[in-house]
Amino acid sequence: MEPGNTPLVELRGLAPAGTRMFAKLEWYNPTGSIKDRPAWYMFQEALLSGNLKPGMPMIEATSGNTGIGLARLAIINGYDMSIVLPKVATEERKQLLRAYGANLIEVDGGPNDGIAHARELVDAGEGYMCYQYGNAMNPYAHEVGTSQEIVRDWPLEAPPDHLVCCYGTGGTITGNSRGLKAAYPDIKVHSVEPFVEDPISGMRSQDDPFQPPIADLSLVDDRYEITNDLAKAAVTRMMNTEGYFVGTSSGAVIEAAQQELSKNGGTAVCLLPDAGWKYLSGAPWVAV
Ligand SMILES: Cc1ncc(COP(=O)(O)O)c(C=O)c1O
Repeated sequence: MEPGNTPLVELRGLAPAGTRMFAKLEWYNPTGSIKDRPAWYMFQEALLSGNLKPGMPMIEATSGNTGIGLARLAIINGYDMSIVLPKVATEERKQLLRAYGANLIEVDGGPNDGIAHARELVDAGEGYMCYQYGNAMNPYAHEVGTSQEIVRDWPLEAPPDHLVCCYGTGGTITGNSRGLKAAYPDIKVHSVEPFVEDPISGMRSQDDPFQPPIADLSLVDDRYEITNDLAKAAVTRMMNTEGYFVGTSSGAVIEAAQQELSKNGGTAVCLLPDAGWKYLSGAPWVAV
């Protein structure tokens, strides 16, 4: 099954008075996250370009979701997959990756240490890496997929005023900004980020020393820095008002969207990357 065609729903209980808030529920993808989209396109490109040859092992540095999406594609297509991830990633993510047959290479530190180690392995000829941080298929998946679905499913006469989404590899924000700014030239793009010293799983700060080459931040109109505490409080509000159990990065998006709509009004479309299951053991919702 191809990823995509996830539901776009209204969050009536969370929208500040006089505003409207819509969310794309990305956990409706095959392995439960938005990252199934880039995984699919990167894998197809690797095959079609001939860069991923039959029998070649695959390697990826990932905080979890891209690895889970790629591990699914690897196992169903007969490739070995190694995932380089921080030791501190939640046990649920490691269990799911192992269940998909992936070999886990756990590293000390955070995502940047995983990227460095994966690059060393690739340089040593250990396998092929899609390299989500530098792969044009990552934003492309959102430009031709996610953003077009939003345009197709947007239920209001007037275009959305705001796009609110996470910044991690930059694939989501870059691709959706391209697609949505082409359809709705006045839409404002809000990047949701953690603080460097208070990381949230899957997300990156523009203040981080490593900025992914695929990220085009000239498309971003402003940024919201959200603490773990505020993100987790928004996860709870989401459960209590709409009944969805979202991941911490989705909580950060909800918090940012509520702040933006309270300040400037209008209508917002929010991209919610995954559900909360993978973070349950994280004492609660601890970041990686
Ligand atoms: C849970 C979660 N939230 C947000 C993101 C950020 O998305 P992107 O990498 O497209 O910027 C990711 C990416 O891995 C993620 O796994």
